[in-house]
Amino acid sequence: MQNIFRILLVALLVWMPVSIARGQDTADTSAKDKLIVETILRMESFDYQKASPKVTAAVGRYLSTQGASDQYFALVNRFLITDQSATLLVIALADTNGKGARAVQSLLLLKAEEAIFSAITDQDSADDSRERLMRSLALTEQPAALAILHDVVVGDEPLSVRTAATKALGASRAGELALLAIVVDEKLPEDLSATAAATLGLSANEAIRTEASRHLTLSGSGAADAPPLPPVADLIARTGDAAKGKEIYARFCFICHQIGSEGIAFGPALTEIGDKLPKDALYSAILEPSAAISFGFEGYQFTLKDGSLRIGIIASETDSEVVIRVPGGVTNSVEKSQLAERDKLKESLMPANLYQAMSENELVDLIAFLSTLRK
Ligand code: HEC
Repeated sequence: MQNIFRILLVALLVWMPVSIARGQDTADTSAKDKLIVETILRMESFDYQKASPKVTAAVGRYLSTQGASDQYFALVNRFLITDQSATLLVIALADTNGKGARAVQSLLLLKAEEAIFSAITDQDSADDSRERLMRSLALTEQPAALAILHDVVVGDEPLSVRTAATKALGASRAGELALLAIVVDEKLPEDLSATAAATLGLSANEAIRTEASRHLTLSGSGAADAPPLPPVADLIARTGDAAKGKEIYARFCFICHQIGSEGIAFGPALTEIGDKLPKDALYSAILEPSAAISFGFEGYQFTLKDGSLRIGIIASETDSEVVIRVPGGVTNSVEKSQLAERDKLKESLMPANLYQAMSENELVDLIAFLSTLRK
């Protein structure tokens, strides 16, 4: 409780717009603060830990006016400003505009693993905040972040928390591998096997899905050894039930596509897909996503200088950073100075095995539903 109260208090202090009647004095102070910040940023080796209280106070005031901006993270990361941990935790728990993963990255730099762990396990944390924090952890793909999620999954938190941690690991390739390792090592608690199966069964990486299927029963009515599908022409000839198809859609497609404003925008919007694609093209979009990848939705793999990977769609790019969108709709920005390699993937980021997780009838129903999506 105390913890949450402290976080709320800090949130209030830090995020309250600085609109509180700014007198001439405050304007002077903030100009001076900015000057101090610019000066120490320019110094090649400034030891912040040994800085005078006057300087640290100026930096603290300056940071409190920056929100979760690039400048904010740059300063905190460069000078390892540990007293920003509480603020970073607020940013990570709120995760607005996908800043959560960056806040977590900074927290890891500050070695605040314990604070992150307590925010996850604190009974007073709201479920959705906790989930955002855990997803951000997975997105950083850093060993220390994955270790926290690992501890939650195999630990003795309530089932809802462990389930959320298991799902969160599905948010990144490194996270999926960490979850797979728990499964292979037989450390996965029994009550999480359905969640782990659903998470790993959705992996875009075939090797992960195959390995997972050796240890878990991947969910869905179509087992891995289901009979092969009849030719698409035969499937097209059948009449599906669009209402049932809508339920299939909600189960498998919602996390990556939007219809109108519902769902999560990772792949293209499917609002009018029934006008755009005839049934045979709808089938091939699901059965062979990599055969024709929609323009602007190509997958990229970025290798960072620290050896970690980021995989996703390029949401935007400037001279200094590239913003990568991953399933779940989270974006992850990477400084270009941290990049070692970028590779365009030949495979679609839409999993190629989704149809195997449903029965033949369910697939026909799903296509019937997609055909109804028109202007
Ligand atoms: C993990 C994320 C993910 C999931 C889950 C997913 N998709 Fe996709 N989908 C994508 C991406 C990314 C693309 C764009 C790349 C491509 O064309 O392959 C895409 C493309 C498509 C397209 C082509 C759209 C166009 O405008 O040409 C269709 C149709 C589609 N998906 C349907 C589905 C259906 C139906 C499901 C559920 C069974 C589903 N997707 C599940 C990520 C996903």
